[in-house]
Amino acid sequence: MSSAEHTVFVSSATGYQGLALSKKLREIGWNVHATTRDLSSPAAVTLKEIGVQLKEADWDRLDVLRESIKGCHKLWLCLLPDWDDPTRERRQCANMLDIAKEAGVKQVVTSTTLGVSQLDANVRVYPGSFMEKHMLNKKDVENSVEERGFEHVTFLRPTFFMANFLEPKVKRYEEIRDHRSWTTSMTAETQLPILDHLDIAKFAVAAFQDPEKFHGRKIGLASDQMGIQEMLSMLAEAADQPGSIKAHFMTDEEIEAQAQGTGFANTHKVLRTASDYIDFDELRAIVPSLTSFKEFLEREKETVRRTYPPRNE
Ligand SMILES: NC(=O)c1ccc[n+]([C@@H]2O[C@H](COP(=O)([O-])OP(=O)(O)OC[C@H]3O[C@@H](n4cnc5c(N)ncnc54)[C@H](OP(=O)(O)O)[C@@H]3O)[C@@H](O)[C@H]2O)c1
Repeated sequence: MSSAEHTVFVSSATGYQGLALSKKLREIGWNVHATTRDLSSPAAVTLKEIGVQLKEADWDRLDVLRESIKGCHKLWLCLLPDWDDPTRERRQCANMLDIAKEAGVKQVVTSTTLGVSQLDANVRVYPGSFMEKHMLNKKDVENSVEERGFEHVTFLRPTFFMANFLEPKVKRYEEIRDHRSWTTSMTAETQLPILDHLDIAKFAVAAFQDPEKFHGRKIGLASDQMGIQEMLSMLAEAADQPGSIKAHFMTDEEIEAQAQGTGFANTHKVLRTASDYIDFDELRAIVPSLTSFKEFLEREKETVRRTYPPRNE
């Protein structure tokens, strides 16, 4: 097949997952179409440099989306939650899928969250909590893809990103950066699966290259797994401040007291069992060399140091 027959619309192409995927697709000579709200951002400039056909628009600009998806046979669907407007992700999803269907897209590879595997298994997060709403939205995204009857669909369900520990994503976990502690509703025994976003792109490319083999599959994605304190100790080591980052495991009373809050500390209770939904043998059969946390920290050393500068105690 010529590369002209492989044209992918990559949503969130300037984001962590989308940028990694766009680069991989361009490396194998596939065409990539995408939108961004800011053509002058560093990620947008990179995309232009590697030959991505990029248009400036918000996903609510359906005319531009239509123009950009025209001629694409494949769609990477990765949408963003809007904490202020919980209906927005579902709306944008429906629009993007309808436009893709009209444009003749045959294959959709979707990135949601490992939480969907837990929902499928009836693991309950606090009913009514923002985390439950978030997971239900992601489940709805998957349902919307399935309902539209694309020829080939694959669902990738990423676990907790390794990049959450570093700038800029660390803003959601600023306690780790600012206080060098992580208060969490996971336990000292929890084995947390974690994921390098660059590995997501490897799984996505595998699915795009073999639509039949990956059709209908729902795959929980992780690159490595370990205890919380072990993870924080590796992070502190990589920042050249061994032993400086400590886990604080919340008591049941502390967790209940915050049950309806919007912080991640309490709702991360669901991550206690996240490892049950990851099959590393299955993952290594697709991507033999998954990135260990140690390798990730080594690769991102500069960002680790920038995120965790030495502190004057
Ligand atoms: N962090 C984790 O541990 C984790 C784990 C599992 C799943 N996830 C999911 O991963 C997703 C985030 O992926 P990511 O980290 O790769 O993304 P990201 O780095 O946060 O990037 C966000 C992307 O979304 C685009 N975007 C946002 N709102 C938009 C809008 N209204 N119109 C057009 N583009 C818009 C941005 O484009 P421009 O700014 O260029 O317009 C950018 O490309 C979320 O849905 C999250 O729930 C995260």
